Amino acid sequence: MSNIGSYDERVRTFDWSLAEQELEYTAGAGLNIGWYCSDRICDKGGADKLALLWENAQGEEKRYTYDDVRVYSNAVGAVLRRLGVERGDRVCLFMDKVPELYIGVVGILKIGAIAQPLFSAFGDESLLVRLSNAETSAVLTQKKHAFKVRKILDKLPHLKHIVIVDHDGKTPLKDREVPFSLEGSKAVENLECFPTKAESPSVLHYTSGTTGMPKGVQHVHYSLISQFLTAKWVLDLQESDIYWCTADPGWVTGTSYGIIAPFSLGVTQCVLDAGFSTEAWYRFIEKNRISMWYSAPTAIRSLMKGGDEIVKKFDLSSLRHLASVGEPLNSEAVVWSERVFGRPFLDTYWQTETGCIVISNYPGMEVRPGSMGKPFPGITGTILDPSRNEPYPAPGKIGLVALKFDWPSRMRTYWRNEEAFQKKFRNNWYITGDRARVDQDGYYWFAGRDDDIINTAGHLVSPFEVESALLEHPAVAESAVVSKPDPLNLEVVKAYVTLKPGFAASKDLDLEIMNFTRKRLSPLAMPQEIEFVDSLPKTRSGKIMRRLLHAKEWGEEIGDTSTLEND
Ligand code: WT7
Repeated sequence: MSNIGSYDERVRTFDWSLAEQELEYTAGAGLNIGWYCSDRICDKGGADKLALLWENAQGEEKRYTYDDVRVYSNAVGAVLRRLGVERGDRVCLFMDKVPELYIGVVGILKIGAIAQPLFSAFGDESLLVRLSNAETSAVLTQKKHAFKVRKILDKLPHLKHIVIVDHDGKTPLKDREVPFSLEGSKAVENLECFPTKAESPSVLHYTSGTTGMPKGVQHVHYSLISQFLTAKWVLDLQESDIYWCTADPGWVTGTSYGIIAPFSLGVTQCVLDAGFSTEAWYRFIEKNRISMWYSAPTAIRSLMKGGDEIVKKFDLSSLRHLASVGEPLNSEAVVWSERVFGRPFLDTYWQTETGCIVISNYPGMEVRPGSMGKPFPGITGTILDPSRNEPYPAPGKIGLVALKFDWPSRMRTYWRNEEAFQKKFRNNWYITGDRARVDQDGYYWFAGRDDDIINTAGHLVSPFEVESALLEHPAVAESAVVSKPDPLNLEVVKAYVTLKPGFAASKDLDLEIMNFTRKRLSPLAMPQEIEFVDSLPKTRSGKIMRRLLHAKEWGEEIGDTSTLEND
């Protein structure tokens, strides 16, 4: 029996207080996610249960019980407190998917500080933008990533401490660096959690904007209510599950459903800290008897590429439930997974800003392959007619996906950018930035984004950020960055570039510019293709028309070009 039972029945009787009751939370009382994710599970008799089973590319393994998570997160909290980190201070986690990341988030939340996870493959420019915007006071990082922080230290007056979580006790430390080791630290049996409340800030996640630099999405401790319940009803997490969320906590999926939801539910989760490989993934499922698997379309397409035969080499019979997020899940992938794993991947839709799954398929509800499903019980969605900003009177038309902004884990604002936050609303509807249609039965069908943001393998990249990095290269005069269709990653980044006098297009320059952006930003934001052109299409007022280049890449109609300067 699934946790949700009947979707329709849940919609009829829904109230978020259901989750509050299960979590024994009463309005106005203290609420600390860190405590819920460790101490509470131990208090309920789960101290010896396995919380985290970690493995890396070399096959090295580590296991942590809920009591380990409790005492180690206490140790992280205690170290930060000793350094003077206070409630509300931003503490960044800049590391691979190592246990210190998962336990670190819990520790940071316990002392009321704000956890700011950042993808470890970020280069120094991506890091600088996010650390200076958040005025981050401490960074937890690994030896191997510390050099990127050192490089930008001069530009970060607010950054007081760099905690090296895998310090060997020998390597000399540099300016502001502090050694730490989870296993080497004294287990801290008791740590007083900061008495955070529902509206206290918890997690700050940076997401790409359309025009400006990345924005910090501000979440609060009350987000737990909807992260807990969506994990229960959509991911169907149950007491005996062995859960695997393949996402990196540098992105919201890895935090909401890779840390907060599984730990607050007291389930056992596995983490594979390694790059993608078909064999390694199937082996990981087989070896750990994984029963619930939350992944993403690009990974599923990569597995499909591996073929059906390889699946038969492994015993994957432990799998009982699969879900996907981050990009449109094509119907072929749903049908394929049903054939090879015996069950379909259920598509789930949400955003950094929503904090939890908002539109989804549910266990027991008919799956329409290619559809992202229906709004979570208690969440009101609609399709707005963009010309009136009102819901369409009848289903069937493609318009803007909009939500009534009233569920517990919605973002509270963009970090120090209330203006951008207010711009997300029209007629009191929260505008997601995506387009879709609804069918007669209330199923949502994704149609595309309503802005220039590039979705590459489930990760959003802002053209603006890539263009800014390109302009820093000495040879680049101007640039326009658009998405290009890609069979595996959905979209990849493509850059059109004009060169400064004295520079000539060449294969070497092409590679050099690619590397330049990869190092500054990340491998994801690096253009997969650079096209050198003599000039870029512009409006009469001089604005670069990305729309035109986008249409060219996608083989679409170019549309109105009456404002075009040079055609
Ligand atoms: C954007 C949000 C949600 C966690 C990961 C991404 C796209 C997300 C789907 C889906 C089609 C999807 C949307 C959305 N997206 N899920 N099931 N079908 N598109 O969080 O980085 O904030 O990205 O990802 O465009 O707005 P994010």
